[in-house]
Amino acid sequence: MESENRPIGFFDSGIGGISVLKEAVKILPNENYVYFGDSKMAPYGIRTVENVKELTLNAVKFLLKKDIKALVIACNTATSAAIIDLRKEYSKYMPVIGIEPALKPAMEINRIGKVVIMATTMTLSEKKFNNLMKKYDKNSMIEPLPCPGLVELIEQGIIKGKVIEDYLNPKLLPLKKQGIAAVVLGCTHYPFIKESISKILGNDIPIIDGSKGTVQQLKRQLIKYNIINKNIDKLGSIKIFNSMNSQDIIKLSYELLKR
Ligand code: DGL
Repeated sequence: MESENRPIGFFDSGIGGISVLKEAVKILPNENYVYFGDSKMAPYGIRTVENVKELTLNAVKFLLKKDIKALVIACNTATSAAIIDLRKEYSKYMPVIGIEPALKPAMEINRIGKVVIMATTMTLSEKKFNNLMKKYDKNSMIEPLPCPGLVELIEQGIIKGKVIEDYLNPKLLPLKKQGIAAVVLGCTHYPFIKESISKILGNDIPIIDGSKGTVQQLKRQLIKYNIINKNIDKLGSIKIFNSMNSQDIIKLSYELLKR
C-alpha cells in the first residue's frame, strides 16, 4: 500500500481513546484509522508501571501487523509508562504520539481557584506528570484528583445519570466549595462524562482535555514524515478492534465515536 494511504494506529487500555480518535477524524478526515482497545485488561491505572508497559508494547505489536504509518497512544496511563520505550523502538520508522494532561492551556486560563486534574492513580504518581506539575504549579494551584473506579464504569457504557453523579459528587463538591478555576481531564475515558461534571460544577467552569493538542501534534508529525494523506476527495475508513471478545464493546465504541 502507498505509504500515505496506510492507517494511523490508535491505542488505549479500553474505549477511552475513542475520544481522541473522534478529534482526529474531525481534524484529519481523509486519513484511515485502526483502533485497538484492551478492554479485557482495563483498567491499566491500578497496575504496576512494568505491567502497563508490557501490555502496551504487546498491543502496539497488534497494530503494527495492521501496517500502520503512525502510532497514537491515546491513553495517559500507557503514555506515562511506555512512551520512552516506544519512541526508542519505533520513531525511526514512524511518528509516535502520546497524550498527557493538558496543564498548559488550563494554567493559561488564569481564573481564580484551583486547577483540578482528574486522572488515574498511576498517571498522577508517575514521573512524567510530576515533572509537568513542577513546570506549571508555581503557586500550588494544581489539585491532582485520582479517580479509581471511574474507568470501570465508563467501560460499561455508564456515562451519565445517578451512578456517575454519585461517584463524582463526593470528589468534586468539596473542591467546588474551595473554588475551581478549571478541570483537566487527564484520562481519555473522562471526556465521555463531561456533561455530568458540568452538571455538578456549573457550565462556567472550563473542562479541558488533551485530545485536540494530541491530534495537532499528530498532524505536524505526519507532515514532517511526509506521510499525510493528500487524497482530500475521499473520507478515510475506521476499523475498531478490542481484546474483549464481544460485539457489545465494538458497538459501544462506534456509538461513542458518533456522539
Ligand atoms: N484511558 C486511560 C487513560 O487515559 C485509562 C487508563 C486505565 O485503563 O486505567 O489514562
